[in-house]
Amino acid sequence: MHPMLNIAVRAARNAGEIISRSADNVGKLQINRKGINDFATEVDRMAEQEIIKIIKTAFPDHAILAEESGEHKGNDFVWIIDPLDGTTNFLHGFPVYAVSIALQVKGKLELGVVYDPLRDELFTAERGGGAMMNNRRIRVTNQTGLKGALIGTGFPFKSQQHLDAYLGMFRTIHADSAGIRRAGAAALDLAYVAIGRLDGFWEIGLHPWDMAAGILLIKEAGGVATDFAFQDNYMETGNIIAGNPKMHQVMYKAIEPHVTEALTRLKAK
Ligand code: IPD
Ligand code: CA
Ligand code: CA
Repeated sequence: MHPMLNIAVRAARNAGEIISRSADNVGKLQINRKGINDFATEVDRMAEQEIIKIIKTAFPDHAILAEESGEHKGNDFVWIIDPLDGTTNFLHGFPVYAVSIALQVKGKLELGVVYDPLRDELFTAERGGGAMMNNRRIRVTNQTGLKGALIGTGFPFKSQQHLDAYLGMFRTIHADSAGIRRAGAAALDLAYVAIGRLDGFWEIGLHPWDMAAGILLIKEAGGVATDFAFQDNYMETGNIIAGNPKMHQVMYKAIEPHVTEALTRLKAK
């Protein structure tokens, strides 16, 4: 295993332990409201601090982009961290949440780790080295159409201005697929596409830390991810369509008629 992946795995497992330890005491946690429907707890912050401590001890010169503490300047190696993806689920005791850590070097995703502490499922990917779950090789499904497909999504609850566009997409996919799931942790949704539990996924308005590790997992598992303009500006637009190459195409076709100009625009940095 790549030594940097080792560090990412250690950081993700330690963060997972912090999250699990706190899961029985969510009622006592201090909750911060960052925006509409956007919460962070001490657990998010503690888990993030642990991850950053482990990365910074091993690689003091590396840069960091973390959800709770933002940008930490450094060299061309950028660690993209979501210490707890699925905070709303966590706060409600809804058992779907994960830690997500990715490494991007000069704009290229090199490593990705998504760790689900509840199921002890560790998803890892290295660019060119494939994707694994608990050290076993994983692959996207062979599904070729929406008929019979199980599709994951996230609702645009923080970007309500896109609700109509989203509902148009939803209607088309809902009409043709076997089912749509909204589990509430995008990093895990993407990992589930990589391992074949979902045939595809789409969401509007994600942040880089929600997707970075999951996207590499999907690519290394034989899948494809793009934004709504069929480009790879998902980190800049926040919008993503993912699946095996055929499902990606099928989903793009279903989604594209509902894409507004605002949805293809790159967000200002
Ligand atoms: C959220 C989850 C959710 C997605 C949101 C994200 P958080 O992350 O991934 O599934 O729909 O857009 O913000 O805030 O729980 O880390
Ligand atoms: Ca997240
Ligand atoms: Ca988070």
